[in-house]
Amino acid sequence: MATLLVKNIGVLQTPVGSYSHRGRAQGENIKWNDAAVLIEDGIIKAITKDGELPCKESQADSVIDAEYKLVTPGLVDGHTHMVFGGYRQNEIPLKLKGAGYLDILRAGGGIMDTVRKTREASFDELYDKTQGFLDEMLGLGVTTCEAKSGYGLNLETEVKMLEILKKLNENHPIDIVSTLMPAHAVEEQWKGKEEEYIRICCEEIMPYVKEHELAEFCDIFTEDSVFNAEQSKVYLEKARELGFGLKIHADEIEAIGGSVLAGQMKAASAEHLIVIDEAGMESLSEGGTTAMCLPATSFYLGATFAPVRRMIDEFEIPVAIASDFNPGSCPSLNLQFVINLGYLKYKMTPEEILTAVTINPACAINRGHLTGTVEIGKQGDLVIWDAPDMEMLCYRLGSNLALKTIKKGILV
Ligand code: NIG
Ligand code: FE
Repeated sequence: MATLLVKNIGVLQTPVGSYSHRGRAQGENIKWNDAAVLIEDGIIKAITKDGELPCKESQADSVIDAEYKLVTPGLVDGHTHMVFGGYRQNEIPLKLKGAGYLDILRAGGGIMDTVRKTREASFDELYDKTQGFLDEMLGLGVTTCEAKSGYGLNLETEVKMLEILKKLNENHPIDIVSTLMPAHAVEEQWKGKEEEYIRICCEEIMPYVKEHELAEFCDIFTEDSVFNAEQSKVYLEKARELGFGLKIHADEIEAIGGSVLAGQMKAASAEHLIVIDEAGMESLSEGGTTAMCLPATSFYLGATFAPVRRMIDEFEIPVAIASDFNPGSCPSLNLQFVINLGYLKYKMTPEEILTAVTINPACAINRGHLTGTVEIGKQGDLVIWDAPDMEMLCYRLGSNLALKTIKKGILV
């Protein structure tokens, strides 16, 4: 039995419960002063406040002094595309001259460029590169994340990406939840024949991935010039039939029905939602679907920002915020920057933001029972921040404020 005592916590701030929080509850966190947390074999055993200790220091195998700083649950990044070949810095001059994201994609660049490089890259090359990204994320306070395939667009490379994630999940401290996303772009040969490609996804790729337990969720890019709402429905119905959880990239550039479909199908989450309309918000609210909002992508694309205040206040949709780390629309994996943007651009409160980077994304990837809050019985996933409170974390920009990251009771 290994025990870790984290003592002298200035403020322990955390949402509570194993469910996603919506409306006013999104902004409800507990804040315990002068707290301590005892973790036994990776699981939180006791929490105390007001200077009390859950055990004698001499009884713990190791003790970490939090020096009266802020402690929160480990961050959960609910949306990434972290396995990819190459980079796409060559797109920036085109973007600066006015080329849009979809213009570049239609011309065979964008996602298709990354698909070519990902197909060419070896398993080991991609494994090492992704491991480097995970190390960086851990250092920034992320202890659990989601990761999508989607740069293969064929069985062989989609499976290669997911096998890399599976092996990394076994070997790296960060817990990774995988999502199958072969419907991420339409390759030239399938243009005008999208239904046929969707059939391949449904009949060949999804069953293989299910049988080999390579992913828990399926995602699709429902967007103008990519897949329409009807095609998305066929794809997601098959995914549901096979037992996958559902996710949709919806309303990123054009609102073509993705968010409405997400709510109707009770998807776990709908991602992006930059241009979501009232019908979309109504549907997400009714479906209990989490809005996975990606402010660093809005920033990087020079787009507007999703209407998060309306989502929380008027429609009571559970909101998560995530990095969307990918080589095109968001080459940043820094969830602390996402926190800054949630504060300044979405105008979320620090408490709502903490919920949006912990328990809400954890629930959207089926890990709410294990992580996302600091509570007895959950994994000992914590971050000690070089900050006295969440306000400071929301306000400071461009520095890494994660002092110590603890995953399952181990300092990592
Ligand atoms: O979520 N929008 C679609 N997919 C990714 C971008 C992928 C890429 O550009 O490589 C996103 O932003
Ligand atoms: Fe994405």
